[in-house]
Amino acid sequence: MDLKAETQINRRREEFPTLASGIHLLSHSLGPVPRAARESLLAYYEAWEHHTSEDAWAASWWELSQQVGDRVARILGGTPGSVQIQPNASIALASVASCFDFASTTRNKVVTSALDFPSMEYIWEAQRNLGAQVEIVASPDGIIVPLENILAAIDDTTSLVAMSHASFQSSYRVDAKAIVAHAHNVGARVLFDVYQSAGAVELDASVWEVDFLIGGTIKWLCGGPACGYLYVRPELQRELHPRLTGWVAHDAPFDFAHSPMRYARSIRRFAQGTPSIPALYSALPGLQILEEVGVKTIASESRRRTEWMIEFALEQGWKINSPRDLSQRGGSVMIDVNDGPAMVDRLAERKVFVDCRPGVGVRISPHFFNVDEEVEEAMLVLRDLLS
Ligand SMILES: Cc1ncc(COP(=O)(O)O)c(C=O)c1O
Repeated sequence: MDLKAETQINRRREEFPTLASGIHLLSHSLGPVPRAARESLLAYYEAWEHHTSEDAWAASWWELSQQVGDRVARILGGTPGSVQIQPNASIALASVASCFDFASTTRNKVVTSALDFPSMEYIWEAQRNLGAQVEIVASPDGIIVPLENILAAIDDTTSLVAMSHASFQSSYRVDAKAIVAHAHNVGARVLFDVYQSAGAVELDASVWEVDFLIGGTIKWLCGGPACGYLYVRPELQRELHPRLTGWVAHDAPFDFAHSPMRYARSIRRFAQGTPSIPALYSALPGLQILEEVGVKTIASESRRRTEWMIEFALEQGWKINSPRDLSQRGGSVMIDVNDGPAMVDRLAERKVFVDCRPGVGVRISPHFFNVDEEVEEAMLVLRDLLS
């Protein structure tokens, strides 16, 4: 079984200084910092230091949110003006939830999945008090949620389907197109949490006609923390009036007008208050590198490696807690171990950096900057430690 293949990819490893410290397979958690982030954050400092002579807001900061949003939109397969940067993915979801009025309609069902990130469950739980009927589609094995069960839960009382596109827990990836097609057929909207898929697999927001996507840049997109995002289908944007709002979402924010609120006639209507400017500066270099390398290439490399890892693991007789079928998988492979935290520590001692989650074992995520030798070495070290 050979992993090595001739590939076209330019790995740009020298642009990620953290890679010198060992084998980084942690893109599901925190990506390595691009070297250019140092310059970018210094540019932020410079703009701040000199803001009395050159107004940083007017010169660049006010536009920055939209620039970063448009870069994210390209990775999601959306058009310019479809993504509003958010403080984090949890707030992005809360913003969408605040667009719905569950109490005044019988179309008040929200369909979620048992494999969603806990934040999402907490936010929907809070919406129950506001009239939402939340149906969590179960996972029979903690790895997948059968598509037929998801589709069966979506009916003409459903206002929104809101679930992970790729699960943080098992890397299970739902069939986005089938879910959107069925939901739209019965008049429901669809939101996917693409935090664990954007940048690792190809997304096609416009083609899927999905209504909302949420996520953040810190993992597969090699950005810093506190740069979440919200994609809203362009045709839908102006129908929505998020109750989670603020002055930046106003059509003329610098009028500092009293209420009633007049929402911006653009994606900015989904903003709240002052954007996190350092987070935007920290996100730009990673987004640029990802775009230059190309998600199509990254995704094909990810499929080749994760397939090899799974074959290797199965040959050893290990239990895989991710879907076997690559069309149902994101960029990670979860391998069952007895004591996840202890194994993570022992791997780190051998310079293999992964993490673990309860019930699924170690999470291992090769990304474009890794080389085949690292992926092989990581699996050999794991074999050594498990034997
Ligand atoms: C799938 C998924 N959604 C949401 C989150 C949390 O996002 P945030 O901290 O930006 O709210 C995570 C974080 O690990 C995640 O993996």
